[in-house]
Amino acid sequence: PVRNKIKKLLTGELVGENVLAKGWVRTKRGNKHVNFIALNDGSTINNIQVVADPAIITEEVLKHVTTGAAISVVGKLVESQGSGQSVEIVAENIEVLGKADPEKYPLQPKKHSMEFMREVAHLRMRTNTFSAVFRVRHALSYAVHEFFHMKGFYNLHTPIITASDAEGAGETFHVTNFDLDNIPKTDEGKVDYKQDFFGKETNLTVSGQLEGELGAMALGEIYTFGPTFRAENSNTTRHLAEFWMIEPEMAFYELDENIQLAQDLLQYTVKYVMENCEDDLQFLSQRAQDEEKNKPQTERSEMTLMERLQFILENDFERITYTDAIDILKNSKPNKKKKFNYLIEEWGADLQSEHERFLVEKHFKKPVVIYNYPKDIKAFYMRQNDDDKTVAAMDILFPGIGEIVGGSQREERLEKLQKRMGEMNIPEEEMWWYLDTRRFGSAPHSGFGLGFERLMLFVTGMGNIRDVIPFPRTPDNAEF
Ligand code: 4AD
Ligand code: MG
Repeated sequence: PVRNKIKKLLTGELVGENVLAKGWVRTKRGNKHVNFIALNDGSTINNIQVVADPAIITEEVLKHVTTGAAISVVGKLVESQGSGQSVEIVAENIEVLGKADPEKYPLQPKKHSMEFMREVAHLRMRTNTFSAVFRVRHALSYAVHEFFHMKGFYNLHTPIITASDAEGAGETFHVTNFDLDNIPKTDEGKVDYKQDFFGKETNLTVSGQLEGELGAMALGEIYTFGPTFRAENSNTTRHLAEFWMIEPEMAFYELDENIQLAQDLLQYTVKYVMENCEDDLQFLSQRAQDEEKNKPQTERSEMTLMERLQFILENDFERITYTDAIDILKNSKPNKKKKFNYLIEEWGADLQSEHERFLVEKHFKKPVVIYNYPKDIKAFYMRQNDDDKTVAAMDILFPGIGEIVGGSQREERLEKLQKRMGEMNIPEEEMWWYLDTRRFGSAPHSGFGLGFERLMLFVTGMGNIRDVIPFPRTPDNAEF
């Protein structure tokens, strides 16, 4: 027989036929009369049960059928006698493709801590939780591309190695081809970064936005979806040094259209995953519910994962200005017991995560879009508002996550942009290519960045950003 994926076998379409399945053993139990093997090949959260009769499958083979071993099974697919599964394979032949010494295999059929799982990140995808997470990750990524493709956006590949620091936050990783034993020095004896990349100082990109703007001013509506890098040494459950960002950029969009597009994208992708990853989401929802029980009462979510996802689909996001957000925070009673005791003092301050959580989880109880931020806490490229104090920025805050999207309408007026760059000490001669779009055929345009792993956290209900990317890069994690 030809090999079928376990997902296909579990549909029951092939009952009565001789089938071939290959996968990794999750568990084996039984006695001297019969063995039950739970087999998984990654195609679905569900295992297929293989029934092995020691009269047919020899003791010599069965003794190597242990948790983690790779096996190949030929047998008849039949309706299951037992409860818990609809079909099973009655094995006629089992071949052990790769043994997994039970004394040494790190993943035992029991609950392991997430910390331990990160230490065995090379194997953790073989567990229910992580295989579900990464199947969902695939579907979510696919949904992003489908959304933009259907809207007529073009996927633009922007560079990973670049000379610009789009966000101006100075959190870049250098890229050099230095011979480390012979580092080029300036006349003053300092490292000559100007020699980084064949004579140009370069870094890993923090955002594809600036190049994305160039694309939008030619192709109209584009998006990037690629890895971005931030050398921030923050050890939180929401930050990675390497994360994936989705950045659409649209000619002729103003801020409100930008916000609407972000809401549509978030709702579309969440809906796609709900419709296409039902088994995995049910599993992850149950898992998240079990985790809730370990949290203190005040921290527990009032909704299940599924309810949270459904809620996002059915409700418009609340849109408020930064100034209104500050007023709400100022007029809210500090509540020590509920952890919201650090309410804001001054207009002009950046919102801290406790402020964001207060607005989203306690005040509005839904996603919140905050727009028109003070210009001094935002990047140089944001469009200046007439009040001279604020820019047409927008952040979207999600329950349990905080900031999931950051974006803005861009400053398309050459003189205003040059003036702002001057105030912020950004050298014009390094940005001549960017300024050219304002010199030749400039037009209003907008865009935003959606942190893919932040969206993954929301959709999967996982608690730590290290657990929604296969190989997290954080200050404590870069071994493989
Ligand atoms: O707010 P940020 O820094 O905005 C930009 O980079 C803009 N250039 C985007 C644009 O307008 N095209 O980052 C955008 C989003 C954040 O809202 C957050 O979801 C995510 O990227 N993000 C991170 N995710 C994981 N780890 C980090 N260290 C992140 N930093 C930002
Ligand atoms: Mg931001």
